Amino acid sequence: MSPVPDDAPALAQALLSWYYTVKRDLPWRQTHDPYAIWVSEVMLQQTQVKTVIPYYLRFLEHFPSLNKLAQAELEEVLSYWRGLGYYARARHLWEGARHVFSRLNAEIPKTYEALRQIPGIGEYTAGAIASIAFGVRVPAIDGNVRRILSRILAWPYPIESALSRREFQNRLLQWMPASQTEGFGQTSGDLNNTPGDFNQALMELGATICLPKSPCCSACPVSAWCQAQTPELYPVKRAQNKPNSIIRLTFVLIREDQIYLQKRPSKGLLADLLELPGCELPLTASTLLSLTPDDCFSLYQKTVIDRSYDREAWEFFQSSPTLHGPARHTFSHRHWNLYWLILPVRGHAFPNMIREAQNLPESSRWLSLQELDSAPIPTAFQKVIGAC
Ligand code: ADE
Repeated sequence: MSPVPDDAPALAQALLSWYYTVKRDLPWRQTHDPYAIWVSEVMLQQTQVKTVIPYYLRFLEHFPSLNKLAQAELEEVLSYWRGLGYYARARHLWEGARHVFSRLNAEIPKTYEALRQIPGIGEYTAGAIASIAFGVRVPAIDGNVRRILSRILAWPYPIESALSRREFQNRLLQWMPASQTEGFGQTSGDLNNTPGDFNQALMELGATICLPKSPCCSACPVSAWCQAQTPELYPVKRAQNKPNSIIRLTFVLIREDQIYLQKRPSKGLLADLLELPGCELPLTASTLLSLTPDDCFSLYQKTVIDRSYDREAWEFFQSSPTLHGPARHTFSHRHWNLYWLILPVRGHAFPNMIREAQNLPESSRWLSLQELDSAPIPTAFQKVIGAC
């Protein structure tokens, strides 16, 4: 269904090309000095870019090197943090700098693992410093990056779980371009650092396009890979459903005595079989009821191939139609709860052979009740048809 797994270089390329065109000219993007990047990443953890910039510049002017920071009193450091909030960040940064100064000969280590040994440096900060300052091929996964991944993968599980963390880490490693380590660790220069740029491109995407509430999908460089049909629904909240128990909203279009079916993609679950169109949703039975007519129409448009009935469908969703179901069906590792909406549409019931006369897309079918018996329709959908 999605080009994601096989098409990693193209995804990274699209993301990076976009980033190099639109990236904001931020002060920490003009250096590969690991100390400066460390400072910026700590400041950026709970604070917006535009707030951070003046603090970052003032902080580095006063503490231009790790040695200067390590030798300062904590109180002085805190005074340069005043107004940024979350003062524990400043104390951790200072403690980390003192650790590097006294135990590591004032040299910031170049690997992710060694960075993680420094007090106050967590997974995200270690990934950011290693990739941005040293070109190490390692992800830097914060909340924004998790949101983006949950959408690209239409990830049906809560993003905080260990399973999600592992999967996101693996996916990013799969997509991330190769290291270009030569020349890193310098304090200036305009090297393109692809792992670090890749991580920052994701941060940029999360800050400007893949927003929590109103994502600008039309401007997104990786929309072709994104499997989220309604991105606002991701990341999913902590499951009330069992993790493998999934809601599927299904559209049953009925025209005289015929039912609309379409061919499923040739990869994945129920490949190449006929389906009642619809989609899996990261919702519970009760939140499914809160879908608006616009949500329903948008899902209809994304899942039904035949465009002939859009207008009728639009009107239908405005009319607060009854949601039927559930019909339940268990596959080996997935449990579907099928809910469906029955859309009666107007038009003549042509015999299915006369495709051209109807202008019907190749993968769409209108089948009469008799034809349904011999068509390759999976049991899950037969259950719905039987209950209609
Ligand atoms: N947020 C966290 N790290 C960032 C970075 N390097 N650039 C922009 N925003 C960020």
